[in-house]
Amino acid sequence: MNMNSVAFGSFHNPVKLIFRPGALSELPGELQPGDVPLVVTDPGVEKAGIADRVCRTLEEAGIRFALFSKVESDPPIETVEAAAAFYRDNGCGPIIGLGGGSSMDAAKALAVVVSTGEDIRAYRHGRPVEAPVVPLLAIPTTAGTGSEVTGVMVISDLQEKVKMVMRGPSLFPKTGILDATLLEGIPSRVAAATGSDAFVHAIEAFLSRKATPVTDALAFEAVRLLASHARRVVADGHDMDALHAMLMGSCMAGLAFSNAGLGLVHALAHPVGSFYHVPHGICCGMFLQPVLRYNLPVCPEKLARLAGALGVDVGRENAVSGAKRVVENLAEIFGDIGIPRNLPGLGISDFRVNDAMLDDAMGAAPTRLNPRTSTREDIKALFESVR
Ligand SMILES: [Fe+2]
Repeated sequence: MNMNSVAFGSFHNPVKLIFRPGALSELPGELQPGDVPLVVTDPGVEKAGIADRVCRTLEEAGIRFALFSKVESDPPIETVEAAAAFYRDNGCGPIIGLGGGSSMDAAKALAVVVSTGEDIRAYRHGRPVEAPVVPLLAIPTTAGTGSEVTGVMVISDLQEKVKMVMRGPSLFPKTGILDATLLEGIPSRVAAATGSDAFVHAIEAFLSRKATPVTDALAFEAVRLLASHARRVVADGHDMDALHAMLMGSCMAGLAFSNAGLGLVHALAHPVGSFYHVPHGICCGMFLQPVLRYNLPVCPEKLARLAGALGVDVGRENAVSGAKRVVENLAEIFGDIGIPRNLPGLGISDFRVNDAMLDDAMGAAPTRLNPRTSTREDIKALFESVR
């Protein structure tokens, strides 16, 4: 693969974005008269008083609404079904996903279920979600998944122990509201885990086989924003400047990866997350180093280009040594924000790679987009590198 050629491709994103601290005040203007929105969120967002702020904004605008706040992390099909019953009981219309990736993805799944009447499992084997759905709005409360700008959702099937990654044009929210004041006081471990996910999205989109000049521009700037603000938000969850930069970085990473795709880090992180219940962002951060070192021989020039986004001066070094410096710099950032390097660092000492995990990673779309082609043995060795 020639990483220096200018790729052909396409780019699509239909989401209207409003991004400034205080942007929540624009939520009522994004609804139609008579709409009864359902706010979909999780207990943590409710406890932090963020759901209250959204409810008050709607109340003050005279908008009747309902609130479903029972989304758990890695939301299972059952939660989506419970939300659908609640949605119908309350005669709701538009759906507002408020929270991290879990709440925004549950909102997307809910929109599909209530609009099509179908079981969400109907989309698990790659059938795109194309049927029209009720208007979706997304308000992130973490700087992580970028779900506010993607046509992707991840829902867990607890019986099968798999994360179903589903896509389609209907899953794009109509509007995304990026209001950094909603992230104020974010606990440092949440800022680190979610920031790590965003960071990995940007890096994997940049190195993807499907990367284009458009996604490169977005991913590069995302890496620059995330690299220069990640330590700050982890050190101080009230640093508004840094919170806004992280929100923009995670959103731009979302714009990039929803078009360019991801890579092996995500292919490995999903099964480990499903089997060992490791938070997604932590899992991604943990796999980043081994995957980058594995990819380096096939894409040193492209990896070395990230030096500019990281503020690393590689002077006249050749591509391979520049790429190594990039990988080292990323290791420092991820170490500084507290991402463990392996599973024992998370208290998991009984990790075993099983066939289901290997099958899952081998068959995952990001594996095909990763710059280096992998054998089953490669994947096994990468899994074992975090043991
Ligand atoms: Fe991710």
